[in-house]
Amino acid sequence: MFDHTSSKQMDESVQGRPFRSSVNAHSSRKYYIESYGCAMNFNDSEIVASILHEQGYGAVTEPDQADLLLVNTCSIREKAEQTIRHRLMHFKGFKKKNPRLLVGILGCMAERLKESLLEQEKLVDLVIGPDAYRTLPALIAEADGGQKAINVLLSREETYADINPIRLDQNGVSSFVSIMRGCNNMCSFCVVPFTRGRERSRDAYSIVAEARDLFEQGYREVTLLGQNVDSYRWQNPETEEVVSFAGLLEKVALIHPDLRIRYSTSHPKDITDDVLKTMAKYDNICKYIHLPIQSGSTRILQLMNRTYTKEWYLHKIDRIREILPGCAISTDIITGFCSETEEDHQQTLEVIEYVKYELAYTYEYSERSGTLAARRYPDDIPAEVKNKRLNEIIALHRSHSEQKNKDEIGKIHRVLVEGPSKKNSEEWCGRTDTNKMVIFPKGHAQKCQFVNVRITDATSGTLRGEIIGN
Ligand code: SAH
Ligand code: SF4
Ligand code: F3S
Repeated sequence: MFDHTSSKQMDESVQGRPFRSSVNAHSSRKYYIESYGCAMNFNDSEIVASILHEQGYGAVTEPDQADLLLVNTCSIREKAEQTIRHRLMHFKGFKKKNPRLLVGILGCMAERLKESLLEQEKLVDLVIGPDAYRTLPALIAEADGGQKAINVLLSREETYADINPIRLDQNGVSSFVSIMRGCNNMCSFCVVPFTRGRERSRDAYSIVAEARDLFEQGYREVTLLGQNVDSYRWQNPETEEVVSFAGLLEKVALIHPDLRIRYSTSHPKDITDDVLKTMAKYDNICKYIHLPIQSGSTRILQLMNRTYTKEWYLHKIDRIREILPGCAISTDIITGFCSETEEDHQQTLEVIEYVKYELAYTYEYSERSGTLAARRYPDDIPAEVKNKRLNEIIALHRSHSEQKNKDEIGKIHRVLVEGPSKKNSEEWCGRTDTNKMVIFPKGHAQKCQFVNVRITDATSGTLRGEIIGN
């Protein structure tokens, strides 16, 4: 997903981004953490950082300065795991120089491969699954004593609600807030229910408190994160008040009109009119929805266990357009899923043509052992066919996104200034409400400020503009 916001969604494009923490390491032990996978994993690394800081650890920005090297990992596709394996082998080499060094694997790959990483592969000293981060200090002590340190227990309750994440990327403008963990949908291709466990929702008031705290620190955008945010449901044990996702969105929107709210990810079967109407009601809830279709063929959707049809999905798109005119829509698509025919593929192209997505994250199907698809259906689409179909999908989508960007020329958008443009420090970059990146001359604008920008030029990836006031 990832780059759906400043925020990243589940996507390999964000993999391998080391957190460059500016939290100085004066303490005796220094850690370095590198994160792969989805935004939830990145946010988990911030929780881990918080746990380590409590223990007196300091962050370093280069792996060769660390006594504790942590890799927070993703298992979503085979390629993701391969990249991480190479990285772990590289880090293992650091032990020659620093015999005190501990290497730990966190996250989904730790959960999936468990002991084998310690015993057969001997790649790491510590293995910690996504629900076991509170036990990290005890596990480090065990590993220091030369024992095998592993905790991959999944929990039905853990939400880390009381841990205040340390914002490692430090852009100071936008941040992630996890609202739930795990996933109860058993999409047949997906490893997440196995690596992240059962779905559970976090205390709504701890979410609001965290978002408010971010606003008070100067942040101007939060992205609420969950694998399936529409099934968020939390009951206050004292008052019995039940908070739905629409209710939560409203509570966060009410913190301040200058705090922008994004969220990810919606499931087409669960997104409700209530959510769409709440989005329409509050200007500060961004008009952008990530609604993964995966395939446009109802037959394939059934095999994927997505529990909606092509028509159901298109009806949801129509509802979004009705309730939220101008709302940007993005998607995820898997190509070459088991038994996918040319006809199925054409159905996917038809949906893309109908919706004309702003953004599409496209993947070739990668079989993950243990999933329903791996057990039941042969991965029978040849690599070159997967690739050919993927390229057709990308080409069609690109023609839409180019046209959509061109249509923006002349329009005025409210943009949140995120920081200097990468290519030219005299220019700012920032996002529109609809999640489009715009580059524009700095003028008198400041970081974290909202400005009105008129779009003057557009390429397939970026818009250029000029400030016309704030
Ligand atoms: N919870 C989110 C997605 C999480 S994974 C949702 O339901 O939309 C992010 C994306 O990775 C998925 O939407 C899917 O497109 C892709 N993906 C997941 N498993 C995959 C696999 N085995 N092969 C290829 N792509 C996969
Ligand atoms: Fe995976 Fe489906 Fe859950 Fe998304 S909703 S995390 S694709 S099982
Ligand atoms: Fe996220 Fe990858 Fe795990 S997408 S939930 S880190 S498998």
